[in-house]
Amino acid sequence: MASKSHFYLNTLFFLLLSIFCLKSSSWSLLDTERDYSRWVSWNVNNHQKRAMLMAKSTVQTPGADGKFVLDGKLRQAEMNSVRVTVSQDGTGDFKTITEATNSIPPYNTRRVIIAIKPGVYREKIFIPRTMPFVTFLGDSSEPPTITGNDTASVSGKDGKPLRTYQSATVAVDANYFVAISMKFENTAPHVIGTKQGQAVALRISGTKAAFYNCSFYGNQDTLYDHKGLHYFNNCFIQGSVDFIFGSGRSFYENCHLNSIAKKVASLTAQKRSNSSLASGFSFKDSTITGSGLIYLGRAWGDYSRVIFSYTFMDKIILPQGWNDWGDQRRDSRVYYGEYQCTGPGANLTGRVAWARVLTDEEARPFIGTYYVEGDTWLISPENLSSPAFKSLMHPGTNI
Ligand SMILES: *[C@@H]1O[C@H](CO)[C@@H](O)[C@H](O)[C@H]1NC(C)=O
Ligand SMILES: *[C@@H]1O[C@H](CO)[C@@H](O)[C@H](O)[C@H]1NC(C)=O
Ligand SMILES: *[C@@H]1O[C@H](CO)[C@@H](O)[C@H](O)[C@H]1NC(C)=O
Ligand SMILES: *[C@@H]1O[C@H](CO)[C@@H](O)[C@H](O)[C@H]1NC(C)=O
Ligand SMILES: *[C@@H]1O[C@H](CO)[C@@H](O)[C@H](O)[C@H]1NC(C)=O
Repeated sequence: MASKSHFYLNTLFFLLLSIFCLKSSSWSLLDTERDYSRWVSWNVNNHQKRAMLMAKSTVQTPGADGKFVLDGKLRQAEMNSVRVTVSQDGTGDFKTITEATNSIPPYNTRRVIIAIKPGVYREKIFIPRTMPFVTFLGDSSEPPTITGNDTASVSGKDGKPLRTYQSATVAVDANYFVAISMKFENTAPHVIGTKQGQAVALRISGTKAAFYNCSFYGNQDTLYDHKGLHYFNNCFIQGSVDFIFGSGRSFYENCHLNSIAKKVASLTAQKRSNSSLASGFSFKDSTITGSGLIYLGRAWGDYSRVIFSYTFMDKIILPQGWNDWGDQRRDSRVYYGEYQCTGPGANLTGRVAWARVLTDEEARPFIGTYYVEGDTWLISPENLSSPAFKSLMHPGTNI
């Protein structure tokens, strides 16, 4: 039983920890197993501390976790949102998505909701850093498709190969991007044995981006979860090789991951390349199905980090589960965790020795939208349109 003095010691420990964490905002030099375990307990404690602060917070704004303080720029942008429509039949403000984004002034400060009518849009779309607060809103009964088929080897305007980065059908460098009921596609086939076949459907490089009810179709390298804080809810993601990859810090909730691998491949290739980065993919309440035999992840970065929780895994998962990409030094550096998963693919018997079965405490920091700091920026589409939320956004007014 915990005594009172234990409690005080713990509190003191938390305080010291938080001071330490403020000083070194990131954790570095994780080279030994001891540092590694220290990081695991730091992560658990840090989460508990944040949860305590959050519970004490008196600011009540409805969001993904019920309570949060919305980041000021975002709040301003949402309060002044504008809406334009895109329709191929000419009944909207624009006929193409590109025309709609071209109409947005640089450094806009308002949320621009681009409502896109059903249809197949063969457009290569780039949302630059100077174009924050853009929403692609599709029709939920018939989501519009944005399609392309560029690959890494296709020549760009300068005659040089596009490479993976520029193969994306839709590329977003801006922050605060949102997509709802959209289908992102790259139709280039994956031919085993050929090089430079990477063909990205969507690349997200801006931070604080959310995707609801979207689908991502591709083969090799479908979803480039490049960098920043990202949230995916109720999304369908399909591909063959490394089809979710990059250095993002992302929370995937209630998503369906479908492999179309022909032989052996990997679902994720998470690139956490050094120990001071907070990046990593966390999948919760998801489903993995499809063909081929796949690893849950392979270590693109030395410190790759991927967690699956409450996820159904079909029989396509290789018993080893995880792959170090031929570099054994990575075995002691990566953080590959599984927690409360089900299905034939979730059998832990054949897993590599360095895979982790997370305890309740170890899993907790990864299994909520707080993992991506959602309390400062995530607003569910349902909340946005609710009158209660609107009146909270405009305090003192009755809407
Ligand atoms: C991409 O599609 C275009 C138009 O359908 C076609 O001409 C081209 O050959 C395709 N390229 C690749 C690499 O598949
Ligand atoms: C997403 O799809 C679900 C059904 O799967 C629906 O209930 C929900 O309203 C949709 N959300 C949005 C934002 O369209
Ligand atoms: C880790 O990555 C960060 C961000 O890219 C960089 O500033 C830092 O120098 C890197 N540290 C090491 C040890 O490579
Ligand atoms: C897990 O796999 C092992 C080895 O293939 C097998 O013996 C065991 O029965 C499996 N467990 C379950 C619960 O399916
Ligand atoms: C905000 O959304 C959450 C879950 O989506 C819901 O439980 C809550 O009632 C909503 N609040 C408002 C004010 O719309």
